[in-house]
Amino acid sequence: MPSPLHCKPLRVGLLGFGVVGSGTCAVLSGNRATITARAGCAIDLTHVATRTPERARAAGAAGVVLTDDPLALARHPDIDVVVEAMGGTDLARRCVLAAIAAGKHVVTANKALLAQHGEEVFAAAQAQGVSVAFEGAVAVSIPIVKALREGLVANEIEWLAGIVNGTSNYVLTQMRDEGRSYAQALGEAQALGYAEADPSLDVDGGDAAHKLALLAAMAFGGAPRLADVHVEGIRHLQACDFGHAARLGHTVKLLAVARREGEQIQLRVHPALVPSAALLARVDGSMNGILVKGNAAGVTMYCGAGAGSRETASAVVADLVDIARALRGGGSPRQIPALGFHHEVQPVRTAAPLEALRLPQYLRVPLADAGAARQVREVLAAHGITPVQQDESPQALALLTSETEEWRAAGAVQDLARQPCVAAPPTRLRVEALA
Ligand SMILES: NC(=O)c1ccc[n+]([C@@H]2O[C@H](COP(=O)([O-])OP(=O)(O)OC[C@H]3O[C@@H](n4cnc5c(N)ncnc54)[C@H](OP(=O)(O)O)[C@@H]3O)[C@@H](O)[C@H]2O)c1
Repeated sequence: MPSPLHCKPLRVGLLGFGVVGSGTCAVLSGNRATITARAGCAIDLTHVATRTPERARAAGAAGVVLTDDPLALARHPDIDVVVEAMGGTDLARRCVLAAIAAGKHVVTANKALLAQHGEEVFAAAQAQGVSVAFEGAVAVSIPIVKALREGLVANEIEWLAGIVNGTSNYVLTQMRDEGRSYAQALGEAQALGYAEADPSLDVDGGDAAHKLALLAAMAFGGAPRLADVHVEGIRHLQACDFGHAARLGHTVKLLAVARREGEQIQLRVHPALVPSAALLARVDGSMNGILVKGNAAGVTMYCGAGAGSRETASAVVADLVDIARALRGGGSPRQIPALGFHHEVQPVRTAAPLEALRLPQYLRVPLADAGAARQVREVLAAHGITPVQQDESPQALALLTSETEEWRAAGAVQDLARQPCVAAPPTRLRVEALA
């Protein structure tokens, strides 16, 4: 076996020198000897596309060719793998497709791109016999794509549930532990750099939906199905919900859930009560955590950082090493196993309608007067809903119900909102036992 130093290096072109791009550069150079030994060849960053070349130079990307033309980089004949770290879906899509058409492998951390255009991108990659690897796109440094592709390959996946957005998890943790309002917690997250100036994608659940679409494609086969994901965010939560939830033995998390029900699949992102003793209840701050239930492995859990430069680079470089090893072992790119979705698995095709969902519910009903709690219970009984646990204060009645159909719970909340005994619109959250 020739020494790694005598093998042809893998030549990498990087699109974007922001958080992820600069981290990739730093990890490749900082861990160069180890990466070379493990990959079986050197992995050389040779080209970078950025509109701010001075930042790349200052960060030590000296010696690489800098350009402001990402499309030209994507097609450059002296590059083997293109790492897309620009973000966005328009230019990134054009660059990725151009790189694939030019016969290059692609590594990307861009969940929005793959959730929206994954089918097109992976079809193009398959036709060209190249790989599109995306470990950094879901849950940053957690090797969840690898776990689903390799470690759990023998399993039928029954369900997965995750906390996959670090920003919203930070906000919810501050609301629970420090009694902050939503606005205060979000302001702190922005001051610490955990949240963007426009936090919509994080707090309204869109980012988690992108990641869930990718996870579900890995778990159940087929292309990402973003349009099938039911999405609710966390803006309407109040600090008091965390107090009620705690007294009822639960905490509130923004969950991304994919569950197989026969030939249908449920895809949903929404805040939910989870039991305080559950593993996911302890994934706090900006951390991410994912539970996967396989029919052979049972439940496995994966946990790690929810954002970060070197953290995401860890996953990006792992994908580069996979490609280097495959190229070294296999010769022709056509022989490299596609690192995309499980095309070989017959996908579950139908989206389960949300109305079919049947889960326990948390209801918080603001009370207008002293006798209101009894009237609220009567209204619920008229809808066939029985509380199994209650936490009552002069201001509000909070309760957990037994398993209740989605339509029934929604109807009861609408009815309650019209009652004079109810001081403000009730809050309803689903309860996930994670079992
Ligand atoms: N940040 C994280 O923790 C994290 C974690 C996982 C995944 N991701 C994903 O990784 C991707 C990159 O995120 P990021 O946080 O690194 O973003 P970022 O810090 O904003 O970096 C993006 C980079 O792309 C460059 N760029 C944008 N348009 C360009 C163009 N037309 N030509 C040349 N360069 C261009 C920007 O250059 P300028 O500075 O010149 O504008 C910037 O350097 C996104 O898809 C994101 O969702 C990020």
